[in-house]
Amino acid sequence: MQTAAQWSSRWMFILAATGSAVGLGNIWKFPYIAGENGGGAFVLVYLACVFSIGIPVMMAEIMIGRRGQQSPINAMHTLAVEAKQHPIWKGIGWSGVIAGFLILSFYSVIAGWALAYIPKMLSGTFSGITPEGAGQVFNTLTANPWMLLLWHSLFMGMTIFVIAQGVEKGLEKAVSVLMPTLFFLLVALVIYAAVSSGHFMQGVHFLFDTDFQALFYPGCNPEQGVTCEMSWQGVLSAMGLAFFSLSIGMGAIMMYGAYLPKTTPITSTTVTIAIADSLVALLAGLAIFPIVFANGLDPSSGPGLVFVTLPIAFGQMDGGVIFGSLFFILLVFAAWTSAFSLLEPVVAWLVESWQLSRSHAAIGCGFLIWLLGILSILSFNNWSDFHPLAFLGDNVFATKNFFDLFDYITSNIMLPLGGLFIAIFAAWIMSHSARCEEMGGEPADISYHTWLFLIRYVTPLGVLLVFLNAVGLLKFG
Ligand code: PHE
Repeated sequence: MQTAAQWSSRWMFILAATGSAVGLGNIWKFPYIAGENGGGAFVLVYLACVFSIGIPVMMAEIMIGRRGQQSPINAMHTLAVEAKQHPIWKGIGWSGVIAGFLILSFYSVIAGWALAYIPKMLSGTFSGITPEGAGQVFNTLTANPWMLLLWHSLFMGMTIFVIAQGVEKGLEKAVSVLMPTLFFLLVALVIYAAVSSGHFMQGVHFLFDTDFQALFYPGCNPEQGVTCEMSWQGVLSAMGLAFFSLSIGMGAIMMYGAYLPKTTPITSTTVTIAIADSLVALLAGLAIFPIVFANGLDPSSGPGLVFVTLPIAFGQMDGGVIFGSLFFILLVFAAWTSAFSLLEPVVAWLVESWQLSRSHAAIGCGFLIWLLGILSILSFNNWSDFHPLAFLGDNVFATKNFFDLFDYITSNIMLPLGGLFIAIFAAWIMSHSARCEEMGGEPADISYHTWLFLIRYVTPLGVLLVFLNAVGLLKFG
């Protein structure tokens, strides 16, 4: 069955795809992961991954989606058959569906935190608050599974509601207003951090001074008896974050590509999205790190980083109640527009292949994801020390709770692996003429050839190189 829906313009696709890309990954995840990995060198590797691996893979996804005109599972099936290959290639779509379930299950819990912060901001909880006080508010929230469940349920409900309606109606209107607003608010926050934190340059240095020692030798401190062991963990995290932040490797962008008019140029569209996405992440970092240093907080303090630092700043600024509330409202919107793209591929597949109604499909899948989310909720309180894979012995999985596992396995394994296979398919399996037709690449278009070179060699080798180097971490024993 063919997908009938189409974006009403190229601009709408850019907005929707940017809405998918810009989300918690940029504002919540990027700063705390960069903080945990020592800053500048991590940011550099992250940006290198976005431009050398991320953009080519995103282009490949859009191309496959638009050519396949269906949900990722069926699009991959159709294109594999078209290329006279085994339909097993639709496994890419399946792994994307599983990744989407896992990601949305914890994503919704974190988006729930942002929801919970809106009433807190509005009621002035943070006015004049100390760093300790802000930490306390965050810890009290995450220690309470029932509260987290409430907000997680609300966010999943909101997501199911929109997807059940069909993406085109509400979504296009919402993103076209909200995304630019979020962007300007972030710029305003960065200006605030620059003017009033007194530690702006320290934040800038942290984000842009490339200290590879901090990336490759985490925690290295011989004087205090911590031995220095070389590790690729940070590089793997940078690559994983690039995939996560661009929404690639699991079919979300492929799905949106299916709704893209044939005349839209893929290269410039993708570059626009990737630049917008990276800018938002960097702006978030520039807003957050000066506050971290001004208040003597630890850059590597983990998932709570944004939820502790920004409220301190809002608590000190004039009009902080308004700005703070607006910020968390926009953060929820950013997360919401990303959540759509996590749920849409599987819902579209159920509608296409099982003739389910959109609402039944959205409610059914949404319910399963909601259930799965409970495991992440408990990872912040009652089950924070429960390590389900501890029996595997001494490796990276052994010390992770459910939330950490879902996050690690999706970002650092499933998305890069999905991206690798998408790259191989687009570069080596699809026919030259099919590729050229979608990319408008005949006869010697420079952007087409650059893409082909990147997707053929740079992307697969890059992903493999990082994987193989990081494999030492995965050793079982
Ligand atoms: N890119 C989104 C973010 O940065 C998350 C996401 C990942 C969305 C994968 C869709 C697919 O928040």
